[in-house]
Amino acid sequence: MPREHKVLLLLLLLVCAWTVCIASLAPGAEERRAHGECADLNNTTWLGYRQQRFNLQVQYLLLTRSNVDCAQRFDRESLGERPSYFNASRPTKVIVHGYRAMGSKPSWVKELARALLRAQDANVLVVDWVYGASFAYNLVVENYKEVAVQISVLINQLQKHGCRLETFHFIGVSLGAHVAGFVGTLFEGKIGRITGLDPAGPMFKGADTFDRLDPTDAQFVDAIHTDSDYFGISIPLGHVDFYLNGGKDQAGCARSRFPSMYGYVICDHMRALHVYLSALNGSCPLRGVPCPNYEDFLTGQCVDCDVFKGTCPTIGLSENSGITISPIPKEQKLFLLTTSSAPFCARHILLELEVSPLDKSAEVEVTLRTENLGTEQRLRLQTSTTVHRTVLAHPVALCEIHSIALRNTGARFYRQGDVHFKSVCLSEFPALRREDPLCVNNVHVRRGAPWRHDFVQVCGFY
Ligand SMILES: *[C@@H]1O[C@H](CO)[C@@H](O)[C@H](O)[C@H]1NC(C)=O
Ligand SMILES: *[C@@H]1O[C@H](CO)[C@@H](O)[C@H](O)[C@H]1NC(C)=O
Ligand SMILES: *[C@@H]1O[C@H](CO)[C@@H](O)[C@H](O)[C@H]1NC(C)=O
Ligand SMILES: *[C@@H]1O[C@H](CO)[C@@H](O)[C@H](O)[C@H]1NC(C)=O
Repeated sequence: MPREHKVLLLLLLLVCAWTVCIASLAPGAEERRAHGECADLNNTTWLGYRQQRFNLQVQYLLLTRSNVDCAQRFDRESLGERPSYFNASRPTKVIVHGYRAMGSKPSWVKELARALLRAQDANVLVVDWVYGASFAYNLVVENYKEVAVQISVLINQLQKHGCRLETFHFIGVSLGAHVAGFVGTLFEGKIGRITGLDPAGPMFKGADTFDRLDPTDAQFVDAIHTDSDYFGISIPLGHVDFYLNGGKDQAGCARSRFPSMYGYVICDHMRALHVYLSALNGSCPLRGVPCPNYEDFLTGQCVDCDVFKGTCPTIGLSENSGITISPIPKEQKLFLLTTSSAPFCARHILLELEVSPLDKSAEVEVTLRTENLGTEQRLRLQTSTTVHRTVLAHPVALCEIHSIALRNTGARFYRQGDVHFKSVCLSEFPALRREDPLCVNNVHVRRGAPWRHDFVQVCGFY
């Protein structure tokens, strides 16, 4: 979404929050499951916040496989005096939410906890700092280090009960990523892992590494970037940084039908979380390809993971994102394209066109088709080169592509001539096995006469 639109919408939202809309947008609307004994995250209203401003009221919730649906409040007493599901011999996942514009509790926390517990038998601790995280963003930014200090006190206590620092994995969303980063700083990088889900950008863009998440904060730091032009940050700050669709604008966010304007404004930002949830589900691999920048990636300059000895880093829980080389690189930018909805995995198809020299630049539209799934892209063919490469995100593998179509789409008044392609080739990357590209040679595409080729192929068993 264009930056100006977001600024406008955000302003509108804030006006909203201050006036009448508060009742409809803010707390209360969403899930109101009255669970007698079960603990829940807190929420606050503008009024409550005004009264409590200097009290952060950080609380912790514990979820394990024994109480997946009923969080237990977790505090000092949970470490001995009161029976608790916490098991010091298991790894601990710590979920840290970010800024809460409206003072409501984050609605995704339980889904993330459940997905983590499905994937791993762990203690899941949720840090509830809704009071400190709500309303004025600049004040929230003042609070985040204090929250980190409070968390570090708890971690110290847990260490005394036998938890080892390397068994902690923090998952911080937005500003929560920097909270986790500061906890990591306090423990001098000895924490096992920190995952930042679209780490917050505003007020952190020029920040010192002491103030923001960086690779020295844990033994392994991974980050997913989805809204780096607005709520997120664009610089790499982990060992590996996954930039989804370039890290800015996400497929399906621009035009979608959101139930609330708030959802619309934060769609790109929250995509990192939803993709992470999908990765935890394990329905399909989300592999990043190392590349210096998105433009190079889109023009097919980066198609392998040779720097990682051929294994592409994946989003999710695998150790060091699946990286086996050592030392682990730092601030490695990884790119991948996604589809617009869960489970988000796309196949990267490299299209290579070799054209006969053109008199003037031309425009063509390419369509890949697999039954009812279609991927379309417009391409500008400049006269300066005869070989054009572009990367397409198709929902299924190369071997399942049924047809390719090319349309000569130059503007009518522009009088684009026919385009002659010496070859049209498709290949998939990163390649899991050597597979020959699919090529069609000697194709002539006239104006008003689309060309189409059907592939007859079967997917091998591998
Ligand atoms: C917000 O907190 C109040 C009490 O502090 C509670 O009655 C209400 O149900 C909470 N709302 C949500 C959405 O959790
Ligand atoms: C929310 O905070 C209030 C004030 O500290 C506290 O009384 C209440 O128990 C908390 N509610 C929840 C659900 O944590
Ligand atoms: C704690 O976790 C360990 C490792 O998973 C397991 O062997 C042990 O039985 C657990 N203890 C309790 C009390 O559940
Ligand atoms: C994860 O899997 C569960 C159960 O199979 C499903 O209900 C949920 O929609 C999935 N979530 C994502 C993000 O893929």
